[in-house]
Amino acid sequence: MAADKLARVKDALKSFPDFPKPGILFRDIFPLFRDPSVFNDLIDLLYDTIKESSPGVQCIVGLESRGFLFGPLLAQKLGVPFVPIRKKGKLPGDLVSVTYDLEYGSDTFEAQKGSILSGQKVVIIDDLLATGGTMKAACDLVEQLGAKVDLCLVVIELADLEGRKKIPKPLKTLITF
Ligand code: PRP
Ligand code: ADE
Repeated sequence: MAADKLARVKDALKSFPDFPKPGILFRDIFPLFRDPSVFNDLIDLLYDTIKESSPGVQCIVGLESRGFLFGPLLAQKLGVPFVPIRKKGKLPGDLVSVTYDLEYGSDTFEAQKGSILSGQKVVIIDDLLATGGTMKAACDLVEQLGAKVDLCLVVIELADLEGRKKIPKPLKTLITF
């Protein structure tokens, strides 16, 4: 049952106060990968959400780095391409780029021109939504490539940071703190 799967995923998460800076409560998703059955529960939940909220999706875009933990697996299960959005300086070739603010700093994202076909229906996946700057930047990059963001999907949403307000596209989250 979905509620049981969600409970197991939530139970596996760990929280670390004052990491990586004072005042940040860091939500660590890596412990859930230590138990393959919990990882499986998470993939099932994400897959079912995509099937329900973005039927006919044509491409999964994952955000560096924690979006790479789920994106390729989901793309494979759905039978569609996986495309990475990476931090500045990691991707070769002709690129589009955007700079954005984070909960603790700022960064630049890049994607390869031609990696997503113009007009394709895209789901963007990441582990966590905090201020929303990362997901907003990813939406902007995908649209710069001429594709359509059908759904933004994250495992964890930090509601008090109100990142949801920044996201110009439909957003689904599995767990809200
Ligand atoms: C984290 C997280 C999200 C982003 C969310 O990534 O994985 O991508 O922050 O923050 P926001 O909603 O305030 O923009 P981070 O940039 O720390 O990189 P990492 O995944 O490589 O650790
Ligand atoms: N990325 C941005 N804010 C975060 C937080 N509080 N926990 C884990 N990852 C994050």
